[in-house]
Amino acid sequence: MTRWTAVCSLDDLPPLGARRIARAQGLPVAVFRAHDDRVYALLDRCPHKGGPLSQGLVAGDRVTCPLHGWTIGLADGSAQAPDEGRTPTFACRVETGVVYLDADELAQRALDACAPTAGPRACACACAEA
Ligand code: FES
Repeated sequence: MTRWTAVCSLDDLPPLGARRIARAQGLPVAVFRAHDDRVYALLDRCPHKGGPLSQGLVAGDRVTCPLHGWTIGLADGSAQAPDEGRTPTFACRVETGVVYLDADELAQRALDACAPTAGPRACACACAEA
């Protein structure tokens, strides 16, 4: 059974915008509000070089990464062709104006994802050369 945890209100999400949700461990989760008020949650890390998707532009059901312009599907986290890659998704739901995420996924999913390899928060470890 899913354990849902409240992370913000729907009103905290600007239309066609996002909010970062910090986790006890691992990179933050970006929660997006699409044009039709559907809500999606992705790891706040572009599959290209880790750009902060929460800072991207949302159009329809996609977000464009602010670093190099890759377009990522909000529903499945996949980069749009010809780019390749996928960022992890998180289950979410909205009930009576409150946004909930799966508590177990928040605690366990994508904890091994490394810091961005491009942009202002780029790490200097060997993964930057991968
Ligand atoms: S397009 Fe996102 S980090 Fe390059």
